[in-house]
Amino acid sequence: MKAIEIKKGIYWVGGIDWDLRSFHGYLTQRGSTYNSYLIIDEKITLIDNVKYYLADEQLQRISQIIDPGKIDYIIQNHIEMDHSGSLPTMIRKVPNAKVFASPQGVEGLPKHYGEEWNFHPVKTGDELKLGKRTLKFVQTPMVHWPDNMISYCPEEKILFSNDSFGQHIASSQRIDQNYPFNILMEEAQKYYANIVLPYGRQVQKALATAADLEIEYICPSHGLVWHEHIPEIMAEYKKWANNETEKKSLIIYDSMWGSTQKIAEAIHSVFEDLNYNTSLLNLRTNHISDIMTKVLTAEYICVGSPTLNSNILPTVAAFLTYLKGLAPKNRKGLAFGSYGWGGQSIGIVEKTLQECGFEILPQIKAQYVPNEAKLEEIKDKLKKELK
Ligand code: FEO
Repeated sequence: MKAIEIKKGIYWVGGIDWDLRSFHGYLTQRGSTYNSYLIIDEKITLIDNVKYYLADEQLQRISQIIDPGKIDYIIQNHIEMDHSGSLPTMIRKVPNAKVFASPQGVEGLPKHYGEEWNFHPVKTGDELKLGKRTLKFVQTPMVHWPDNMISYCPEEKILFSNDSFGQHIASSQRIDQNYPFNILMEEAQKYYANIVLPYGRQVQKALATAADLEIEYICPSHGLVWHEHIPEIMAEYKKWANNETEKKSLIIYDSMWGSTQKIAEAIHSVFEDLNYNTSLLNLRTNHISDIMTKVLTAEYICVGSPTLNSNILPTVAAFLTYLKGLAPKNRKGLAFGSYGWGGQSIGIVEKTLQECGFEILPQIKAQYVPNEAKLEEIKDKLKKELK
């Protein structure tokens, strides 16, 4: 449980959540960290806190550097409980510490913890002198909650970015160059797709602000600190925030007796013939948060369900609810499925894809078990649509 010095006098003092496997439904198979940073200056400053059950771990790390009772300033870039959960413990150690947060943060913290501490609201453009160093604040509402802000230290060229640029990775490594690059980018992509995706416009604004800053380190509130790979993650964030897609299709489905699966395979083969990067994703074997990682850059989102009790399968319903909430833009949607008599499922799927704002392709359906001739007909029809 060591504190780690990122730059001289600036330490990572967060908590590592090795066992975390679900972040409100997002499968976090690599665990996570809640990052907290300590700046040793004339005013000793703590940036962000950790989940409540890692408060002791955070305090142990701080204690390796200074007596936690000496903290002067606490910067709460975001009030969600994964970053503010240990704040009550911290305040018990330093009841007079000044707590800086955005106006929405200052309003929200007492509603979480029922206490009026020594709060100081800060807005975009406000600066806080720590001694040799300064912190400049930029509000970044909705990346990820209305209260979010980021803090920039120009003397050190460090951006404390909170939820932006995070990844759910538990590791004893803290800096990007010491961690496998492919896994780091995959987890950054998964994090964006499952947390940040609805807020593309706000991310674009935050990126425009960041473009004017000299940045040597991006210190997010989850996962690894960016240092060597800042250009790569900035470039990916720009693409993701712009909802740029690739020549990629996803065929996402569940099946009762294999008929919807046959249609899924037929659709998949058409995309293969057209040289798409195409994936068959059975909802029984793929977690919806892993599917969202692929959705982030997919042009075609094809969703299939057989009809069950005049409705769709619960697995498909859960995926569609999740997809609609995360609101990817500039996509094309296709509903498909098999049915016995009613056939309502295909229309229900299509309606949700419409509600997502997708451009809709003609639906594909087959009664009972599609034979080879029917599958060929489905393929021919789809090929014509896609050409
Ligand atoms: Fe990692 Fe919005 O909290």
